[in-house]
Amino acid sequence: MNIILLGPPGAGKGTQAQRLVAERGMVQLSTGDMLRAAVKAGTPVGLKAKAVMEAGELVSDEIVSGIIGEALDQLSANTGVIFDGYPRTAAQAESLDTLLAERNRQLDHVIELEVDEDALVDRITGRFTCASCGEGYHDRYKLPKAAGICDKCGSSDFKRRPDDNEETVRTRMAEYRAKTAPILPIYEARGIVSRVDGMADIGEVSQAIGSILDS
Ligand code: AP5
Ligand code: ZN
Repeated sequence: MNIILLGPPGAGKGTQAQRLVAERGMVQLSTGDMLRAAVKAGTPVGLKAKAVMEAGELVSDEIVSGIIGEALDQLSANTGVIFDGYPRTAAQAESLDTLLAERNRQLDHVIELEVDEDALVDRITGRFTCASCGEGYHDRYKLPKAAGICDKCGSSDFKRRPDDNEETVRTRMAEYRAKTAPILPIYEARGIVSRVDGMADIGEVSQAIGSILDS
């Protein structure tokens, strides 16, 4: 099964993808995570992406579709994929069709997380992750069970993203509205879009996504 999680910054795409990985053995392909890893490693892609990401704008379609193609080639044919943060433009949606067709994969579901944008600023500016294993947390909604210690790996090293300040979040939302939301009709025409209330509790959102995947 191959699915796209679609929604503005902070909608919960990464959170829900991590749960699907844990519960269903699917693989999460997050272009944001892959680009951040490239920036950290100082690769040529990372050097090109760094300033663009810090400004909250979109990295070029060629770069992101290239890294998605490479990532798909690492997977066995029957591994289910969650596309998280990709595609984000009409050109990327077209590239994804080609990348999937070349690998005999089909797109089963596009799940749109519907959210209230004002609440997202609060979600994003409160977000932090474990620097060792990448588990996501939030200052108010999801603190580690033992203060300062990652639930998953026991590390006490946490980090915040440089693009998680209010000004950059507003730019990221504007990019979503202008370039990403307009790709939904492509998938609506294929009858594969489902909508989930992304303002519900994390567990409820997971349940709603699970019912769609099992339907
Ligand atoms: P990317 O990393 O994809 O960021 P994003 O789309 O802005 O999404 P986020 O990761 O901010 O949010 P999310 O929806 O995953 O929410 P999360 O689960 O963390 O992209 C970053 C940048 O990389 C882009 O700006 C661009 O420059 C570049 N880029 C990436 N992909 C690209 C592409 N395809 N093309 C071009 N450029 C690209 O949740 C947020 C917080 O809320 C967390 O703290 C979480 O715990 C909490 N939370 C989640 N769900 C709930 C809930 N239901 N209730 C309460 N709290 C919740
Ligand atoms: Zn951890």
